[in-house]
Amino acid sequence: MKVHVANHPLISHKLTVLRDERTDSPTFRHLVEELVTLLAYEATRDVQTVKVKIKTPVTETEGLKMASPRPIVVPILRAGLGMLEGMSRLVPNAEVGFLGMVRDEKTLQASTYANRLPEDLSGRHCFVLDPMLATGGTLVAALNYLIERGATEITAICILAAPEGIATMEKAFANAKIPITVVTGALDEKLNERGYIVPGLGDAGDRLYGVV
Ligand code: URA
Repeated sequence: MKVHVANHPLISHKLTVLRDERTDSPTFRHLVEELVTLLAYEATRDVQTVKVKIKTPVTETEGLKMASPRPIVVPILRAGLGMLEGMSRLVPNAEVGFLGMVRDEKTLQASTYANRLPEDLSGRHCFVLDPMLATGGTLVAALNYLIERGATEITAICILAAPEGIATMEKAFANAKIPITVVTGALDEKLNERGYIVPGLGDAGDRLYGVV
């Protein structure tokens, strides 16, 4: 598994405002969109392309276009939904599937409660959106779900990751037969006893949408 931690002053600046407890929900949502667009630029570096012939106003030339089948973007409900707009802005022709995962706050185990995805994902590069890679339980369960359906490559995009979550993912996918990459805005210090990322930004879903 490859891990890419973004190292860019613009990303660091936006992350700092995002982490600040005084940042309100509308600003938080806007910043998440912007951050995802920046992270998506890095995450799509290896996306498959095909050569195409085109005519510019000046001459004929050969260029590159994204190959078929199109990538599929999979936000993990609920917080991943806040990342969809930023991803779609950069890759508007990607298809979108949804995966609802819920974490038991006591056991920290993740389970699937909703899925809107093609049964067959063979040939597909899946971009999974989940803002917080904390224990790793949710992402491991989500990625296994996509691997079972034949995904050819998976890239998870997170705003923040904890070392514990990265370690869980590395262990779970040590023998994976497909390329798996995690792209994160920052690698934080640790998890606290409640499974929150430290220093983190709190509950991403609550900060995006308010407490329900
Ligand atoms: N999920 C969140 O929203 N925040 C964390 O810190 C950990 C998991």
